[in-house]
Amino acid sequence: MKNRIQIFDTTLRDGEQAPGFSMNLQEKVRLAHQLELLGVDVIEAGFPISSEGDFQAVQAIAKQTKRATVAGLGRAKKGDIDRAWEALQHARHPRLHTFIATSDIHMEHKLKKTRSEVLADTKMAVEYARSLCHEVEFSAEDATRSDVDFLCQVVETAIDAGASIINIPDTVGYSMPWEFGELVRTLRERVPNMHKAILSVHCHNDLGVGTANSLMAIRNGAQQIECTINGIGERAGNAALEEVIMALKTRNPEFAVETGIDTTQIYPTSRMLSEITTMEVQVNKAIVGQNAFSHEAGIHQDGVLKNPQTYEIMTPNSVGLTSNNIVLGKHSGRRALGARLQRLGYELSNEEMNDAYEAFITIADNKKVVVDEDLISMASKGFRMNGSAGSHVKKNSSKPAAKQTGSHPGGVSHMNTSFTQESIYEYFNRP
Ligand code: KIV
Ligand code: ZN
Repeated sequence: MKNRIQIFDTTLRDGEQAPGFSMNLQEKVRLAHQLELLGVDVIEAGFPISSEGDFQAVQAIAKQTKRATVAGLGRAKKGDIDRAWEALQHARHPRLHTFIATSDIHMEHKLKKTRSEVLADTKMAVEYARSLCHEVEFSAEDATRSDVDFLCQVVETAIDAGASIINIPDTVGYSMPWEFGELVRTLRERVPNMHKAILSVHCHNDLGVGTANSLMAIRNGAQQIECTINGIGERAGNAALEEVIMALKTRNPEFAVETGIDTTQIYPTSRMLSEITTMEVQVNKAIVGQNAFSHEAGIHQDGVLKNPQTYEIMTPNSVGLTSNNIVLGKHSGRRALGARLQRLGYELSNEEMNDAYEAFITIADNKKVVVDEDLISMASKGFRMNGSAGSHVKKNSSKPAAKQTGSHPGGVSHMNTSFTQESIYEYFNRP
């Protein structure tokens, strides 16, 4: 049997903390419902002591969430833990998540505490949280820059105090994948009671390796991954849920693990987050960016039209898109143009196709993307470089004019609705 990896989603806590991503109560509740549909195991709903709004949101999500565990965050202080518990107590499956920094730089400059004080706070906070809630997660903030012997000591103390989930954050996104894998392995080998707890990781993306670090952690025995939709989070963000999940699915033999995620809900969830926060993901973002399943280069389009697997390692359907997106632009070939015209219902002879391709390239040279409306307009006027005579292309009435780009809401095509750049138009000076 494959090992089951728990997916802990912190979009509503770490993600929401990032500039520009704040959400109100209704928005958080709406996203939490979608996260349940997606199949995450844990929804970290917020940091209740940080604001009244966060408290209310955690409370509402705790009350409404049916299947997933709901976590609330608090520092290793009684006041934080009390407030988090007040918000969480009505959840079907509550989890108190408490943390303290364990690196020398954080302990000396931020906490102004000694190692033994941090050890004592760890014990106190976990025991106190455990007296309120049967499930307690402990995080060693800045774990990757902590002295490894001390980190082992803190983890052992937290487990003895009753934590059943130990989270190892790469808080500042400093670790390299091989180092992070090694750290996970070391903890498993050196902490005597590690087998009594789930080992979790939480990787930030400051050097662009948040996903890689999470995957290395799984290969070294991590059982829970903390991540966010679209990779949002403090500074450069957290490991992106969609990247971790699709890597585990696409390269499954490398990991031999399973998760409870319904991957077809990935794209709808990503879109919902962008819509709520009005923050679009970068166009080339893995899995959910506008270009992730788009093809413009002629050679690629030709390959994909013959067999999508030539240039696609996962299907658009598997992440919740209805189709890939063949973008018609100056790099496109005749085959892609022909296929699109056919979908739009136009049957062209070879000669017409030669004219059409020549006219198309001239338009594409002047315009980033040629959209269906441009082709329809060209077809109705005739595909001729210089107006005058020539038959207009016939539309095959038996074929519906399909709109391929409709399956990519927010896709490239609807940024270009016009054929009417004066410079191209008059369609090459037609009479
Ligand atoms: O990055 C971090 O260290 C955190 C912890 C609070 C889990 O977000
Ligand atoms: Zn974090």
